[in-house]
Amino acid sequence: MKVQGRHYRPIWLDDDGWRVRIIDQTRLPFAFEVAVLESSEDAARAIRDMLVRGAPLIGVTAAYGMALAMREDPSDLWLGQAHERLMRTRPTAINLRWALDDMRMRLRGLAPGERAEAAYARAAELADEDVEINRLIGRHGLALIEAAAARKGGPVNILTHCNAGWLATCDWGTATSPIYQAHDAGIPVHVWVDETRPRNQGGHLTAWELHNHGVPHTVVVDNAGGHLMQHGDVDLCFVGTDRVTATGDVCNKIGTYLKALAAKDNGVPFYVCLPSPTIDWTVRDGVAEIPIEERAAAEVTHVTGLTDEGEVIRTRVVSPGSLASNPAFDVTPGRLVTGLVTERGVTEATGSGLLRLFPERAA
Ligand code: MRU
Repeated sequence: MKVQGRHYRPIWLDDDGWRVRIIDQTRLPFAFEVAVLESSEDAARAIRDMLVRGAPLIGVTAAYGMALAMREDPSDLWLGQAHERLMRTRPTAINLRWALDDMRMRLRGLAPGERAEAAYARAAELADEDVEINRLIGRHGLALIEAAAARKGGPVNILTHCNAGWLATCDWGTATSPIYQAHDAGIPVHVWVDETRPRNQGGHLTAWELHNHGVPHTVVVDNAGGHLMQHGDVDLCFVGTDRVTATGDVCNKIGTYLKALAAKDNGVPFYVCLPSPTIDWTVRDGVAEIPIEERAAAEVTHVTGLTDEGEVIRTRVVSPGSLASNPAFDVTPGRLVTGLVTERGVTEATGSGLLRLFPERAA
C-alpha cells in the first residue's frame, strides 16, 4: 500500500541486509515513524508494546526476531531461548506460535554457521507468502462484494472491526483486501469503521489506511453497529481474526462477538477473513480453550489524541479511583459466522467446512 505516494510494507529489511524496519503503529495516525529492530529483544518489545500488531504481522515480526537472534548467537541454546522469549510476548494470535515453530524446526536441522542466513531467507519468504495469501483472500472476498453490489445496485456498505488491514499484515490486509480490490475495480464501497476501544485500532489505523487509499469510510463508535444494521445501513460485515479453531469458532478483537450477534439478528452476512496460518487445528472449543490476553487497565482509563493545537496528548477518560478491566479479544461461535474467507476460497465456519478446503488436515 502507498503512504504519501510511496509503496510501503509494515515490515521490511534494511538496505544493510540485517536490521529490520517497521512502521511504528503506536504513533499512527498522528505521526508516521519508522522504527529499527537491531536485536531479538527489540523484536520482542515491538510485539509486546504493539509497535507492530495484527496476527499475521506479529508472526512475521517474530520470524525476523529469530533471524536477529541467530545473528546474535546461532547456538541451540539461544535458538530455544529466543523462541521462548518471543512466544511470551502476546498470547492470543496463533500466527506467533506458527511462525516461531516453523523457524525453530527449520533452523534446528542446520549447522549453527548456516542459521542466520537461512533465518533471514525464511522470514522474507513468510512475509512474501503472507502478501500472496492476502491477495487471494481479497479475490475470494471480492466476489461477495460484487454479488452484494449486483443485488443492491448502489454503494455496498461494509462494517469492519479493529484493524485487519495492511498494517496488520505484510500487505493488503485480510478483511480489507476484498475492500481494496473492490474499490480498485471501480465497485462503489463505503466502510463503517468501528473505532475499536480501548486502543482505537479502527479509528486510528483502519481509518488512516482507508483514507490513504481513498476508500470512502465513516468512523462509528463501537456501539453503533446494531443500530446501523437495524436500519439497513450495513450490507456485509468483514472482520479479521487472531485464531480460528478446527471447528470454526473465531477469536478476534474484543467486541467482534457483539457485532456477530447483531448481524445474525438482522440477517446481515458476517464474514471472517483469514490466512490459513491463523487456524489452530489443535483447538476445538474457542471459548474454553483460547487464551484471551488481558491488557493494562490504563488502556481503558486513558486515551491518546491530537489537540486542536496539533499536540499529541494522553488523557484520562475514566473517573479516577474506579477499577478498569481490559480483555483484548473475544470468541464468536462458528454458528454466528456466515462464512470463512481464506486463500483457498469461502467455506462455512464448521469443522467439515474447514476440512473441505484443507483436506490435508483430516489426518
Ligand atoms: O490487538 P491487535 O491490534 O493485535 O488485534 C488485532 C486484531 O484483532 C485483528 O482484527 C486480527 O489480528 C486480524 S489481523 C489481519
